[in-house]
Amino acid sequence: MKLYLDTANVEQIKEINDILRLDGVTTNPKILSKESRDYREVIKEIIEILDDDQLLFMQVLASDHQGMIADAKKILSLRKKNMVPKIPATPEGLKAIKLLSNEGIDTLATAIYSAPQALMAAKNGARYVAPYVSRMDSFTDGVQEVIMLEQTLRNYNMQTEIVAASFRTQEQIRRLIYNGVDSLTLASDFCRKLYEHEGTVSATKEFAEAWRSRFNEDGLNI
Ligand code: G3P
Repeated sequence: MKLYLDTANVEQIKEINDILRLDGVTTNPKILSKESRDYREVIKEIIEILDDDQLLFMQVLASDHQGMIADAKKILSLRKKNMVPKIPATPEGLKAIKLLSNEGIDTLATAIYSAPQALMAAKNGARYVAPYVSRMDSFTDGVQEVIMLEQTLRNYNMQTEIVAASFRTQEQIRRLIYNGVDSLTLASDFCRKLYEHEGTVSATKEFAEAWRSRFNEDGLNI
């Protein structure tokens, strides 16, 4: 299972990257717009925080395929390796994905709203597809559509990795994990909820209190 952080906030990336073995960071124009600093500076800092083997996803801005290809190449030039251009799965995006794949360039097809749309992106050579789980809910059951997508890609023996994105509830994340989704990209708050639990906080408090009252010590003095 791979886990990406869906944010461009460097403090949050540093915090969670120190705690977890993250596989990388995903961004999009909206995410980068939320930061108060220039996006070039933010991307540069994220690259500095990440190890070389962690992926960084950055989205193209052009809406025509030639422009998307040009944007994708600019994105790739920002880092020696593991920089992945995200391309919206519009008809122009699919063209760009196909042409970039002909050149051996990995892309992530983003803003995916259905399993067949993801399948077309995968068939065009997208290495990753990002279905927007919650946003899909306006059209169908997003979680179920992603589960069906997993099955579909496996049926056709495709290696394309699903990066499930866009969540509104922890339950959506749980259902996908229990169904063995390839990977998730989560906003920081949802990511923290994977490992933070009030039960763990009170259990550790209980252990410390028991130790202190029995041995009158705060630590392990051995
Ligand atoms: O990575 C996908 C994403 O950022 C969209 O999420 O929360 O805007 O639906 P959201």
